[in-house]
Amino acid sequence: MSQVERIGVSLEKDLLSQFDELIEKKGYPNRSEAIRDLIREQLSQKEMENPNAEAVAAVSIVYDHHATQLMQKLTALQHQHLLQTISSLHVHLNEHDCMEIIVLKGRIKHINSTAEQMLSHKGVKLGKVNLIPTQIHNHQVECNR
Ligand code: NI
Repeated sequence: MSQVERIGVSLEKDLLSQFDELIEKKGYPNRSEAIRDLIREQLSQKEMENPNAEAVAAVSIVYDHHATQLMQKLTALQHQHLLQTISSLHVHLNEHDCMEIIVLKGRIKHINSTAEQMLSHKGVKLGKVNLIPTQIHNHQVECNR
């Protein structure tokens, strides 16, 4: 673990009791852990504004597998040289629909443009992109999970 520094924070009583209530609901073991997560969250939000930052993303799509050649088109997108596909997972939901979760790695701008192309294909019914910047993890925050 990197060097740890202790800091003191002054808070209004009311604000602190609301914070304590929130972190108890969320199941944090202590205030320090909750504050660390809040800081990481803010840093990661900031990092996501940088289109050149490195990130990983889980792109989840639900699509009709009868839609012609959708899988081939998605695979072609994943083979674009700008991005690295780390993994993908296929789940058969019912007789029509499948869910595909594709994990992409690369610059945020390339992830977003590839994900948008995936989501806009005919036959894709639902889609979500969950971006996680990786630079914060590597350089500023110790990850022990
Ligand atoms: Ni399927």
